[in-house]
Parts: sequence; structure tokens; C-alpha cells
Amino acid sequence: MHALHDTVLLRSGAALPCVGYGTWQTPDGETAAAAVREAIRTGYRHIDTAACYENEVGVGQGIRTSGVRREELFVTSKVWNTERGYDKTLAAFDRTLSDLGLDYLDLYLIHWPASASQFADWEAINLETWRAMTALYRAGKVRAIGVSNFLPHHLKALCGTEVPPMVNQIEYHPGQTQAETVQFCRAHGIAVEAWSPLGTGRMLSNETLQRIARSYGKSVAQLCIRWCLQNGVVPLPKSVTPARIAENAAVFDFEITAADMDAINAMPYCGGSGLHPDRVDF
Ligand code: A2P
Repeated sequence: MHALHDTVLLRSGAALPCVGYGTWQTPDGETAAAAVREAIRTGYRHIDTAACYENEVGVGQGIRTSGVRREELFVTSKVWNTERGYDKTLAAFDRTLSDLGLDYLDLYLIHWPASASQFADWEAINLETWRAMTALYRAGKVRAIGVSNFLPHHLKALCGTEVPPMVNQIEYHPGQTQAETVQFCRAHGIAVEAWSPLGTGRMLSNETLQRIARSYGKSVAQLCIRWCLQNGVVPLPKSVTPARIAENAAVFDFEITAADMDAINAMPYCGGSGLHPDRVDF
């Protein structure tokens, strides 16, 4: 990977730009619109949002006023947990398109799996939601479909369907590498995306990462993003700050050595969201 617009090929044939621009916790309205425009001006071609971020209107406005043609952009959104099931997922997708002001998505994801802690029939619920995702894909309304926060036991049932997931977007940063899930995804041709590649900022004060970053003359944020790329994972760093949007894009002029990759890969848990897909109560 040599630039933000270099791509990873998904099973559908869709080309996923190797770094995405995250928008979780970005306020809606002009803040989201201006930040997305700034990201696109900087060279990001992959924008990640979700219905539950409640900023699709602003994100869509940023996309539509960016001056870059829609076909050159890769836009992802996600169906929220309250909208699981066939009919509700189809209706949620229509609302997302309308809020974004777009007529198709590049990638649509199930935001969280229904899990055994909340539903006796969690597998059936996930399969029904997936049936709607497949229908949207077959209708050409979305170029690729996938999931987020799915662990191997959630993925297994979907992998047996006619159109298996193409992407799994998971929490991924130093100290939280979800090795089993990543390995499962690799074995099943599912691309892995990293949400919170900076641990929502928590990684920035880590002394090990600071020491390694310093040796490359790079920031911890750049080190974390580059580390994702070298592990074959697509990072989705979020920032609404123009200088950081640019900083997070400047990750193609250095290479982390194998020894440093090993050291970061072996780091113990050092903070994260604490959200476990089988234990969340939302
Ligand atoms: P802000 O949006 O105010 O610029 P993650 O992508 O892991 O969720 O991390 C996002 C958080 O990290 C946000 O609070 C964001 O702040 C902050 N952030 C993003 N990029 C950088 C950076 N290069 N340096 C410092 N903080 C950053």
C-alpha cells in the first residue's frame, strides 16, 4: 500500500481503499460536513459512518459537497441493533440512504451481532438480518455487505449462506488484536477493518508506543495506523481536527521493522472500549 486510495479487493470485486475515515462520535451538521470535506480534500476516499452515530445527514452533506465524484468514493454505513430482522433492516437501509442523500452504498454492515446474552434465538435473528443484507446486495443497492463486531461463533452461520460476509469491522489496536477473529476472517476471505485504531485516543499516551514511534520520527497515531496496514487490516481513524486528519494520512513514508511489528503485536491489553460483543446491553 502506497497511498490512501490504494485498495483491498473484496470478494464481491469491490475495491476497498486501505485507510478509511472514521466518524464515530463526530457531531452531526456542519462539524461532520466540514470534517468529511477536509478528509476528502486530504485524499481519503473511504468514509465510514453508521445510523447510530446520528451524523449521516452531515456526513452525506460533506460527501455531496466535496467536489469528488461519488464513484471515486467508498461509503460505508451500518444497520443499528434495534432494526434487526428482514423488514426492519430494509427500511433502515432506505432511511440511511435518504439521510446521506445518496442512491447507493459501497458497503453496508450489521453493526453488532444479536447474542446469546440477549436472545435465545440469536442465530436466527442474525440470519434474518443477513437475508435482508443479501437482498440489498442482489438488488444492486450496495456494492458489498458485511458485519461488525462479529466473533467466530457469530460468523459461522453467515459463512454457510449463499453470499457470505465480505468484511468484519472490529475493535483493533495495539493490545487488542482479536487474533482468533482475524484468523477466522482470513480463512474465510473476509476483509478486516479496525475501528478505534488509536483506541479512541487511549494508545497515544502508551510509553512503549511512544518510544517506538519516536524512533521513526512519527507520532503514535501514525504508528498505530501503519501497524494496522502492515498487519493487513484496514484502519478507520477518526478525527475532526484538520491537522490530525492530515497527520493520520501521512503513513506511507515509513515502514515498521519486523522486530517492532512483533513487539507491538505482543503488547498486552492496554485499554480499549471494554465492549464485548457477547456482553453489550444495547
Ligand atoms: P479529534 O477528533 O478531536 O481530533 P479512534 O480513531 O481510535 O477512535 O480515535 C479517535 C480519537 O483520537 C478522537 O478523540 C480524536 O480527536 C483523536 N485523534 C485522532 N487522530 C489523532 C492524532 N493524530 N493525534 C492525537 N489525537 C488524535
